Amino acid sequence: MPQNTLTVIDNRTGKTVEFPIHNGTLGEPAIDIATLYSELGCFTYDPGFVSTASCKSEITYIDGDAGILLYRGYPIEQLAEKSSFLEVAYLLIYGALPTKDELHGFNAEINRHSMIHEALRNFFNGFHYDAHPMAMMVGVVGSLSAFYHSELNIKKKEHRRISALRLLAKMPTIAAACYKHSVGMPFIYPHNDLGYCENFLNMMFSVPAQPYEVNPVTARVLNLLFILHADHEQNASTSTVRMASSTGANPYACIAAGIAALWGPSHGGANEAVLKMLADIGDVKRIPEYIARAKDKNDPFRLMGFGHRVYKNFDPRATIIRNACHEVLQELSCQDPLFDLALELEKIALEDEYFITKKLYPNVDFYSGIIYKALNIPNNMFTVMFALARTAGWVAHWLEMKADPLQRIARPRQLYVGLDKRDYIPIEQRRAQG
Ligand code: SDX
Repeated sequence: MPQNTLTVIDNRTGKTVEFPIHNGTLGEPAIDIATLYSELGCFTYDPGFVSTASCKSEITYIDGDAGILLYRGYPIEQLAEKSSFLEVAYLLIYGALPTKDELHGFNAEINRHSMIHEALRNFFNGFHYDAHPMAMMVGVVGSLSAFYHSELNIKKKEHRRISALRLLAKMPTIAAACYKHSVGMPFIYPHNDLGYCENFLNMMFSVPAQPYEVNPVTARVLNLLFILHADHEQNASTSTVRMASSTGANPYACIAAGIAALWGPSHGGANEAVLKMLADIGDVKRIPEYIARAKDKNDPFRLMGFGHRVYKNFDPRATIIRNACHEVLQELSCQDPLFDLALELEKIALEDEYFITKKLYPNVDFYSGIIYKALNIPNNMFTVMFALARTAGWVAHWLEMKADPLQRIARPRQLYVGLDKRDYIPIEQRRAQG
């Protein structure tokens, strides 16, 4: 019996088929079912893709049971402690940590592309002042391709490279512009002599009327948060970017699709929802009431920032962010009762049988909002921050996919459970559906 295969016996016909099993470098093997339909005339059925590997990738590895996260093999804990966001973006895109010269050149090129076309700035005037920043970001990023017609031939490696860098370079400028528009303040241009996070903070918080000094603590913790949010294998928004890319759509449209997918409260929108939930709970005394609601099958309420499709142990990012919360609140000498509430909520939830048996732990979104709040970033900008950082992972996956000679349009099938064939009914013979 060949070792690396799965034997399937179709009891309807007695037919036996061997499917190859692929082993990766790390993690679970994958059964190659590409010939299933041609061999057995049926599909697999896996809503939400719980047991489905959609691709091969070399970028990020997650061990959900052990709470392990590696970017190109490097543990997230080491990158969080020793690296910078732009160095991690380089690592995700090119697969290796840059030399000093490579990082310097990458930094300089990112800075050179950090401005947006002046005409693009007018797009923001079309948004009402209270438009959600994510609505602005989806629209503006999706329109970027209108400005780069001459370098959109994605069959050309250089066009792919420059598009990826442009996206990485312009996201902070666009994110800051979304914020400035929402508060009715003038947009601030990027400065080529500032680092990636420093530049973003300056565009967010400086005003023409007076000089602005970036707080090094703020820049450092922003680097940390961006590193932690940079990539996470085939999550919903990255899978959306890959799905859109499989049709040959331009990279700006594909990243805009990823931003849209990230916005959902089950995904990147959870960080904003966590702060709202903590504010609704308001007092430690009300935690049991909300825990009970989270456990109640008849109550749609979920403990936001808890649970994960892959992590059935602590999300290593949540642990790092929780520790950073302590430091940041101390260094910025700001107390936040919501942080104390979050710590108590985590403690109570993790002692509760429901959360223990269902292996529901705090995820990356549970504590991140506490830090963003301490940095004076408004709640409705939290998912924009997530999108800014995740652009590094999105473009890395986009480039990886575009370089794969085997990639083809993603076109899943379905299990049809609708009505059988029936004839058209003339309108006078129809009955109201009731
Ligand atoms: C991110 O995929 C990624 O990698 C995403 C991400 C990334 O970096 O890209 O890590 C970022 O999106 C983190 C997740 C942020 N979302 C939230 O915090 C929203 C709250 N969490 C959930 O809604 C939920 O846990 C998900 C969406 C994160 C995961 O959903 P799954 O894997 O489909 O799990 P499920 O909904 O089937 O839940 C399994 C059980 C259910 O109970 P039963 O039907 O089995 O009885 O656990 C329960 C759920 O009711 N459950 C929760 C819960 N999460 C799951 N119950 C209460 N509160 C919760 N938060």
